Amino acid sequence: MAELVVALDFPDTDSALALARQLRGVVPWCKVGMELFCLAGPAVLTRLREMGFHVFLDLKFYDIPNTVAQAVRAAAQSGAELLTIHTQGGERMCREAVAAAAACERPPLVFGVTVLTSFGPGQMPGITKPPADFAGELAGMADSWQLDGIVCSGQEAAAVKGRHPRLRCLCPGIRPASASADDQCRIMTPAAAVAAGADYLVVGRPITRAADPLAAAHAILDEMHTC
Ligand code: C5P
Repeated sequence: MAELVVALDFPDTDSALALARQLRGVVPWCKVGMELFCLAGPAVLTRLREMGFHVFLDLKFYDIPNTVAQAVRAAAQSGAELLTIHTQGGERMCREAVAAAAACERPPLVFGVTVLTSFGPGQMPGITKPPADFAGELAGMADSWQLDGIVCSGQEAAAVKGRHPRLRCLCPGIRPASASADDQCRIMTPAAAVAAGADYLVVGRPITRAADPLAAAHAILDEMHTC
């Protein structure tokens, strides 16, 4: 059963926690990204855990292997249960991140970003192949490097799950049929992403900017569960 993750992309802690209060007990996961983490720091992860959420820290680490391994340890100590690294950081970086996570007291899941869902064909610097092909190649590497999962578009999930059934797929770029794509490019509806085999659906603005965020979350959950 796919799980819903709400992306708490807010410019202040109070707004993020106010939304979390509305969604507690309804949406199982909160995602803390760069904006909120830079403002609020690790304390916001603790607050969300105390509210009963699973916490995903989405800082997309990309650095030399030692630096990333240390960051993974720090993220786990801060309460992250799932975190992201860039698969393009390469084999040594990815394997050291996985090893660092495994050695933690509460090992977080480590997911590798493949091709950001904001990229369309020809938009990724230096990459001429279609995003889906490149995401598929990176998924194969993530599988062989023992990552727990990958971040990809729902449009790529079926192919990835077909070739790499062990890998979990976390899919941003989720848009209900009537919603704006915003800056996302490779989008999918909640129902289509679930049908494609996505394990986690990440939704930000269609919930956070809705007039009634709780109703928007319920509508997405209903769509996910009727698949
Ligand atoms: O508002 P929206 O639903 O587009 O938010 C998507 C969230 O998922 C954002 O927080 C963004 O940083 C994150 N994300 C993404 N694409 C990726 C990885 C993460 O959109 N490949």
